[in-house]
Amino acid sequence: MNYNHLNLGISEVLADKITLHKGIKDPKNHQAWHWELSADDLHEDFVKIVDRLGLTVDSVWIFKTNHFNKKWPIHRDNRLHGVSLENHTDYPKLNWIYGDNSSYMIWYALKNNVKLSTRTDLQDDASYFHYEDEDMVEIERTIIKQAAIVQSGVPHSVLNTSDKNRWCVSIIFTKDNRHIGMEELVNLFNDYCIIVH
Ligand SMILES: [Fe+2]
Repeated sequence: MNYNHLNLGISEVLADKITLHKGIKDPKNHQAWHWELSADDLHEDFVKIVDRLGLTVDSVWIFKTNHFNKKWPIHRDNRLHGVSLENHTDYPKLNWIYGDNSSYMIWYALKNNVKLSTRTDLQDDASYFHYEDEDMVEIERTIIKQAAIVQSGVPHSVLNTSDKNRWCVSIIFTKDNRHIGMEELVNLFNDYCIIVH
């Protein structure tokens, strides 16, 4: 599975929700839709959990969708310490949702006949790997109501068809200054994992 839903037993992941409104107010600027925060923006209750599990926050991002930006382009994420991990397909994050909680996060696989070297998997200046919709087939989807560990090393997208803003606070961890994979991260958060139907 590309996701594990969590109940962290806390009500906030951000110290101050004003942070949700720090995106640049120009919809043509990509920083209107995703921008970086710092570990200092996280709520102390969340930081306590992170510390107890022996994790370090590598980076924190906000990804925003709404009526004007309904669907995130299909991509996979792969940066650690700001550096692209070229072929990493095991790249978990912890996502926490504010606003609309009816949006799908969707994962994809490449169709059989797609040749990556000629059409897709191009890296842009934000160090994303983008994919063309027509090259992909859906493999899994879920609605993250509050928090989940998600596999962002697999091509994925978010679809917000509501009339509300959805902000996803996306947190990348390291452990002992190294990359941490999905299985290890889920095991660490085992006490918080829940089954969502
Ligand atoms: Fe992503």
